[in-house]
Amino acid sequence: MPTTTPDLSGLTAFLQERGIPLLIILVVTLVAFRLMRPLAHRLITRLLQHRAARHASAVDADAEVAQLMAEESLKRVTTLEDLVATILKVTVLIVASLVILTVFDLLPVIAGLGLIAVALTLAGQSIVLDYLMGILIVLEGPYYKVASPHRASLIEPGITGTRIVLTGRVLNERGVPIPGAVVDFWQSDDRGNYDMVGNLLRGHVYTDASGTYSLETIMPACYEPRQAKHIHAKIQGVSRPYTTQLYFSDDPDRVKDNYYMRELEVQVENLSDGSQRGTYDFVIQQVTEKENVTPQSLAARV
Ligand SMILES: [Fe+2]
Repeated sequence: MPTTTPDLSGLTAFLQERGIPLLIILVVTLVAFRLMRPLAHRLITRLLQHRAARHASAVDADAEVAQLMAEESLKRVTTLEDLVATILKVTVLIVASLVILTVFDLLPVIAGLGLIAVALTLAGQSIVLDYLMGILIVLEGPYYKVASPHRASLIEPGITGTRIVLTGRVLNERGVPIPGAVVDFWQSDDRGNYDMVGNLLRGHVYTDASGTYSLETIMPACYEPRQAKHIHAKIQGVSRPYTTQLYFSDDPDRVKDNYYMRELEVQVENLSDGSQRGTYDFVIQQVTEKENVTPQSLAARV
């Protein structure tokens, strides 16, 4: 039976003409790719050494807290290194792709189709989203514990400090109040210590029918290396969990804190009985019916 012999002359000519440049580009790209992670590590380490030298005299913590601080710092450093390494790697890939397209005279064709713009936009979006999520998780810090008690007051025997009642609403991005949302709080005491054994100054509340929450607690103290008094909060209401921190409008040092954001500031009022009152509305993005119900989720339903 006659068989057709594949015509390899085109491929041979292609490899002879363009194969070696392509090989060189791929090898250089691979080597550059492997070097990006150590380069990111070196960049971040140098930056942190510079910062540590500036703040060297400020660090004063007992061994357990120092250990937790070190773990928190390590998580942040790893996230930063991942972020920088990814940015460098994406840059290497973009440069390599452009060189290959130029060498093979494909640039005008691809650019004409607008494919580069589409590809870069999609890659950029997913990377930015991934790392924003990573940074939000890191912000939870080392002091978070699961299964906090359900209670509207964190004040109990042994807790000292200025009493503050925090109230506000949980809203979606359209400003609609979310009933039944859970708001989990954890904070340090009035000397800057977290309870890592029990549940002191930890608790969660639910929003009522009007999306309102209320929590009685005390004003936390600051602890090194943080500059701002803050209360941690994790919010969820037909959504993914959102982890954040609240700051206080009457804390003069809050603006020196690396994580401080004006958008997360509780407006504090001093009351005549020496206690305080503060308000803050959380805004979260909810999962919509469209996002939640997909052909896959319906098919998986039993
Ligand atoms: Fe904290």
